[in-house]
Amino acid sequence: MGFILAAVGSAIGLGNIWRFPGVAYTNGGGAFLIPYLVALLTAGVVYLLFDWALGHRYRGSAPAIFRRIHPKFEPLGWFQVGLCFLIITYYAVIVAWSVRYMGYSLNRAWGDDPAGFFTKDFLHLLPSTQAHVTGDVVPGVMWPLVLVWLFVTLIMAMGVSGGLERLNKIFLPLLVVMFVGMVVRAVTLPGAVDGLNSFFTPDWEALADPHVWIQAYAQIFFSLSVMFGIMITYASYLPRRANLAPTSFVVAFSNSSFEILAGIGVFSTLGYMASKQGIAVSELEGITGPILSFVTFPQVISMMPGGHFFGMLFFGSLSLAGITSLVSLIQVVTAAVQEKFGMGVRASSVVVGLVSAALSIGLYSTSNGLNMLDVVDNFVNNIGIVSSAILTVFLLTFVVRRLPELHHHLSEHSAKPLRGWWRLFAGYITPIMLTVMLVFALVDLVQHGYGDYPSWFVLAFGWGALALLVIGSVLLSLLPWRTRVDHFVPARLEGVEPRPYHHHIDPREVQEASR
Ligand code: ALA
Repeated sequence: MGFILAAVGSAIGLGNIWRFPGVAYTNGGGAFLIPYLVALLTAGVVYLLFDWALGHRYRGSAPAIFRRIHPKFEPLGWFQVGLCFLIITYYAVIVAWSVRYMGYSLNRAWGDDPAGFFTKDFLHLLPSTQAHVTGDVVPGVMWPLVLVWLFVTLIMAMGVSGGLERLNKIFLPLLVVMFVGMVVRAVTLPGAVDGLNSFFTPDWEALADPHVWIQAYAQIFFSLSVMFGIMITYASYLPRRANLAPTSFVVAFSNSSFEILAGIGVFSTLGYMASKQGIAVSELEGITGPILSFVTFPQVISMMPGGHFFGMLFFGSLSLAGITSLVSLIQVVTAAVQEKFGMGVRASSVVVGLVSAALSIGLYSTSNGLNMLDVVDNFVNNIGIVSSAILTVFLLTFVVRRLPELHHHLSEHSAKPLRGWWRLFAGYITPIMLTVMLVFALVDLVQHGYGDYPSWFVLAFGWGALALLVIGSVLLSLLPWRTRVDHFVPARLEGVEPRPYHHHIDPREVQEASR
């Protein structure tokens, strides 16, 4: 139960509330649900199991696991750790905004102009066309961010079962209650039906656009926390006896149900807003990204009777969902630091907390923060995570041919053996689709750039961030391990050729015993 809560807590995050409704709306509305469901079944569940098989079988952080599979694969593990590291530095910032907006909801501090309040008074934001590097930290963003970092560092220092698991046991039920309360209020608002109609009305032409498909797959990867280290790391703490396949459906469907519920809540609210203004939902502005949560929602909160309570529910849900995912992202980094550098839980939490908080504050709480966040988020999601997925699957399927072994592991640790479809999708069909989609996304980015930012800015913070990740991953792999990473060979499986081994020591059991 602790594992399910932690996995669901990781999956349900800003991706569900902050990202999904806008992505779905701009990519075909109701029609988006088709690529989304296809992605959920052919990639989401499939790679959730793939990650769990790796973590549960090879018992370690991402770099340790890939190294145990093949010594040359260690950089792939660091690449996944690096993706998480990049994400945590801006993810914490959005959590900090939400925490601050919970307070602002009480007195509707944004007055009559939530857009001006968010961009000018709160963020002191530079226009995107003039994005450049600045060092002017905005105190109103920095202080909540410092609080968020203190809180999560404390949780990390309390360890996996004492900190993370306990946090999820408290925060997740609280989140569900608050969020359901928010959605019930939203769907009972006048005009909600118009909002829902506009959300679910399919634009079939969108299905012919490869960009829509890559958005669906990227959304699933990010939202379900697969293929960038999180589920691998979480599964490495799972006891040997586990029932993986049915659990994957529980986690995947809980996450998607929550996501669709978020779409329903958000669009009911937008329907109410449009009806108040006497316009159609499609005429509303600001239905995507941060604007949706931090400009459009405050507008509605101001219009609505009892709006401050509704605002608390909305921003409270966003904060809780964000924190339970943030800790899972940080765990990927701390687990790797612990094993590579032989550090304890507390020391690694403090080191990772300090370094990430410094970057997070220095880069994203400045007046250029949102511009940078937008560019990094786009490159990490649409290029970074998808490339990590393709590379991992390609190496494991064709180079070291471990798919049968992972398949056996899943079957042995599930109530019923897993059928052949898993191998077919995990190793062949989905990676081919992903590769085609990645090529389209790359060509599009190269030809058209991203947003209306200056091209040097996209080059530095989009492509540059990815290049830095690749170089960093290789360099980290060259450093020596301070723990006995190679001193481990996975348990024997029926029907799979045994590999010679000396000791069968489970590093996670040793860690547990020494505590
Ligand atoms: N899975 C997390 C989210 O959806 C990262 O935000």
